[in-house]
Amino acid sequence: MPANKRSTSSSGERPIGVFDSGIGGLTVVKALRDVLPNEDVFYLGDTARVPYGNKSAETVERYAIELADILTRENAKVIVVACNTVSSVAIPKLRAHVSVPVIGVIEPGAQAAIATTRNRHVGVIGTRATVRSGAYENALRALNVHARVTSRPCPLLVPLIEEGLLEDKLTDQVITRYLEPMIAEGIDTLVLGCTHYPLLAPAIARSLGDDVKLVDSAQNCAIAVRNLLDRQSLRAPQDRQGTLRVALTDAADNFLNVAREALQLDIGEVELRALS
Ligand code: DGL
Repeated sequence: MPANKRSTSSSGERPIGVFDSGIGGLTVVKALRDVLPNEDVFYLGDTARVPYGNKSAETVERYAIELADILTRENAKVIVVACNTVSSVAIPKLRAHVSVPVIGVIEPGAQAAIATTRNRHVGVIGTRATVRSGAYENALRALNVHARVTSRPCPLLVPLIEEGLLEDKLTDQVITRYLEPMIAEGIDTLVLGCTHYPLLAPAIARSLGDDVKLVDSAQNCAIAVRNLLDRQSLRAPQDRQGTLRVALTDAADNFLNVAREALQLDIGEVELRALS
């Protein structure tokens, strides 16, 4: 498509650009498809450099800018950061760098957690980088100064999910090991602070029991995107069916099949976007 055609297309023809360190962000795409079925979505997963969760904030910021540039060239009308690690450390830099609105997963997840908690004690699980950043603590306390936050990095969960061990005794044991101390400390709400984790929501909910409520940042992020598009009159016409394009920076591995099946997403042909 010629550049001038891209820049003059109406909001309805412009996609929602979504990116993640890899394939886990498809959980946000699934939520977007459900909440905004008329919108086109262009998803970019940095499979060449995943995982981000153990990398420094500076490296994650640099990668995020490169991915946002690719989405800008795709004429995205809004950029959705479908990665908690990137959302934790790179949103200010991204907002300064691009001219379209940028939405991450932290704020929507924190808002939903504050709306859910009764005892104001919220648990957060995520990658090491997300927990180290303190982004959820800051967002939760900005919404309620009395919020108590117990955070825990759960680095074994991403590899288990990528291996497709979504319903497995080993995964259940690891979840229990991570969550038991948090439950003992008295959390009544748990934020899934990593875009992979919604794939484990049934197993995590089983481990939590009835007294602790789960907050899925993917679902809440999709609702925040809908509200933003409404506020800025950027919604696609309601009489059209949105499409999904998926691009990766390296060949897809088995995790794409795990996600496709678990999320029941119609992904079609995957495009390759080499990073320079
Ligand atoms: N997408 C990342 C997140 O939501 C998890 C995978 C990674 O470590 O890159 O934090």
